[in-house]
Amino acid sequence: MTRAIRIDEFGGPEVLQFREVDIGAPGPGQVRIAHTAIGLNMIDTYFRKGLYPIGLPSGLGSEAAGVVAATGEGVTGMEVGQRVAYASPAPLDGYAEERLIDARLLVALPDGIGDETAAAMMLKGLTSWYLLTRSYRVEAGEWIVLYAAAGGVGLIASQWASGFGARVIGVVSTEAKRALALEHGCEHVLLADDDVVGKVRELTGGEGVAAVYDSVGRDTFYQSLDCLRRHGVMVSFGNASGAVEPFAPIELAKRGSLYVTRPTLWDFVGERADLERGAAELFDAVSAGRVRIDVCQRYPLAEAAQAQIDLERRATVGSTVLLP
Ligand SMILES: NC(=O)c1ccc[n+]([C@@H]2O[C@H](COP(=O)([O-])OP(=O)(O)OC[C@H]3O[C@@H](n4cnc5c(N)ncnc54)[C@H](OP(=O)(O)O)[C@@H]3O)[C@@H](O)[C@H]2O)c1
Repeated sequence: MTRAIRIDEFGGPEVLQFREVDIGAPGPGQVRIAHTAIGLNMIDTYFRKGLYPIGLPSGLGSEAAGVVAATGEGVTGMEVGQRVAYASPAPLDGYAEERLIDARLLVALPDGIGDETAAAMMLKGLTSWYLLTRSYRVEAGEWIVLYAAAGGVGLIASQWASGFGARVIGVVSTEAKRALALEHGCEHVLLADDDVVGKVRELTGGEGVAAVYDSVGRDTFYQSLDCLRRHGVMVSFGNASGAVEPFAPIELAKRGSLYVTRPTLWDFVGERADLERGAAELFDAVSAGRVRIDVCQRYPLAEAAQAQIDLERRATVGSTVLLP
């Protein structure tokens, strides 16, 4: 037996239950992993609420680090005791002391990367990697806008983008977050209730930015389109304020023949070669000090509900880990 968070219904954080579960031995191709640190992500709240539909009952959690406790038939290249980490789609069993997982979803952790760091960055760091190199490849000297710049993805992506030479305009909700985002590579940081479009136009000499990375969703969609230069790229990658409403493509023509993409991580690391490449580039950026991973909050796993409450009320900054 092990202990894990389970949900039997969709709803608020109160639906999270910490209880004993029997996960059994790993099947063919699987590994039993004993978690040492688990990453908290906004996507966990979308699954909990039913915004992203899943079958019930379910676990939650898509990012963690740990140690291989047992291997199933046919698993090669993974040994009991090895340190590993993952960012994985369903089944959502990250919020657990131990879980079973397909070995092909795991990456071995280099010695220089600690367990909390790994748990804090696998999903958020790989997301930053594909956003900045695949969804829209940022170029040195180009302006971009990044929402929630002091959040989990935000602190990683702002450092990485500025390391690529991009000029990053962050958007955040408080002065304290503003100061933090400025320390992490943003050249300017606007407050969410500023005249964001006006200030972006002013900073870019009227031209607008090459790309907007918008994780806020419903509340900021048109504002983000209005920040773009001609042929600019809107990367709409989250729903912190709710899902973006359907829109008419003519809105893109009116604003300068814009492009919109609505990406998801799993389409960029679903192939093993892509996962290995993304993880290698992430580990390299962190090991070389180009990207620092800030674990700013820690909660016992049993208090995952409180962690989600704090994430949803915008009270966290950087990455948060749950400790089993
Ligand atoms: N598509 C993908 O592949 C992918 C992968 C990973 C994450 N994401 C998305 O990236 C975003 C960041 O994820 P994260 O886990 O690192 O979370 P996070 O940024 O640490 O936390 C979410 C932040 O969103 C901002 N926000 C703006 N409006 C909000 C609202 N109405 N309610 C709550 N928060 C609001 C808040 O920052 P301020 O207070 O500064 O506004 C808040 O701190 C999320 O939207 C997530 O869904 C997408």
